[in-house]
Amino acid sequence: MLTGKRILLVIGGGIAAYKALDLIRRLRERGASVRGVMTGAAAHFVTPLSVASLSGQGVHQELFSLTDEAEMGHIELSRDADLVVVAPATANLLAKMANGIADDLASTLLLATDKKALVAPAMNLRMWLHPATQRNVARLREDGVLFAGPNDGSMACGEYGPGRMSEPLEIVAAIETALQSETQIPLAGAARSRGPLSGRRVVITSGPTHEPIDPVRYIANRSSGRQGHSIADAARDAGADVVLISGPVAIPDPAGLAVVHVETAQQMLAAVEAAMPADIFISAAAVADWRIANAQTEKIKKTGSSLPTLTMAENPDILARIGKSSARPRLVIGFAAETEKVVAHAQEKLGRKGCDLIVANDVSPASGVMGGDENTVHLVTPAGVESWPKMSKAEVGRKLVERFGKMLEARL
Ligand code: C5P
Repeated sequence: MLTGKRILLVIGGGIAAYKALDLIRRLRERGASVRGVMTGAAAHFVTPLSVASLSGQGVHQELFSLTDEAEMGHIELSRDADLVVVAPATANLLAKMANGIADDLASTLLLATDKKALVAPAMNLRMWLHPATQRNVARLREDGVLFAGPNDGSMACGEYGPGRMSEPLEIVAAIETALQSETQIPLAGAARSRGPLSGRRVVITSGPTHEPIDPVRYIANRSSGRQGHSIADAARDAGADVVLISGPVAIPDPAGLAVVHVETAQQMLAAVEAAMPADIFISAAAVADWRIANAQTEKIKKTGSSLPTLTMAENPDILARIGKSSARPRLVIGFAAETEKVVAHAQEKLGRKGCDLIVANDVSPASGVMGGDENTVHLVTPAGVESWPKMSKAEVGRKLVERFGKMLEARL
């Protein structure tokens, strides 16, 4: 299954582009989301409307598109995926990838991405067997690009031989295999150590906690972990040594950092304390305020007339513990998810929990923040409130990490 996986699908200009439409369906049937990018030539073979309808998302075609850039910049588009798939990968696209040419949206995304690419070549057999293409393929394999096919078969041009694109289900299988291993392109050591947070240790909590009622039931909240995980991604990209302590979430673990999986608030506190000391602690998890004091070790049975009574006990406040501990990190960041009086509540928490900054956001159902892709945040510090416009959670993560880096520098 590919539940929750995000695929950026680059469709090249070849007759096999029609198979990309079926590929989108097959991926979505398995729970993946697919964002389509088409080269100029691809639009001669399949229509952007077909790609948009099947993927359920807008299609990206232009590098210099004002509307697309306003919604999601091309760099962000290139990173906001678990895997980049190129199908069909034409000889021209392979040549551009092998040589780092970025002269349209598709080739620019392929150069700017931090995720591996899986390519499904499709071309005439002479083009496939040409020494130039074979040179490019060898170089791409060396760079870690993954290949699905091509197969031998009859071609649209009437010839028979290698160059026929793999069938959609074969590509799906290759995608499933690729996603089981590391798909992040490792940064060269030098590039990574130059990041603004290089040498800094960042501990982040993310996601909800589950508090058991009995072995099969629990209480929880709607946090998806997307905002916390994207902060972890951004901190890693800034060169930090990151420990992400995650409650139960349906999204994949970020690559290139340590992830500790926990269920309850008490386990989360233990994991946070074990991960200390740190330079920055970011408490993005939606920790359950209460647990069930009388949780049962056996499943609670229905007993005719009487209803079970759940007694609550207060959970430890992880943020307050860390914010007020003797080994307090230099920077302690809290979150405040509120459904009303967002900023006022955050201001009160700032002092009570011993934080340097609270990221406050509105999580009322109408805001669509819980589980959604976007967030509108207010940065609350003793000096005042700074409200940011609505952005994707990935963008919020990057901007927050940039800010935390500056705050930490000012305290050194
Ligand atoms: O009090 P409230 O739950 O709104 O506070 C939110 C902030 O406190 C978040 O940063 C959250 O991660 C943290 N928190 C915590 N432990 C708790 C409750 C909240 O660390 N038990």
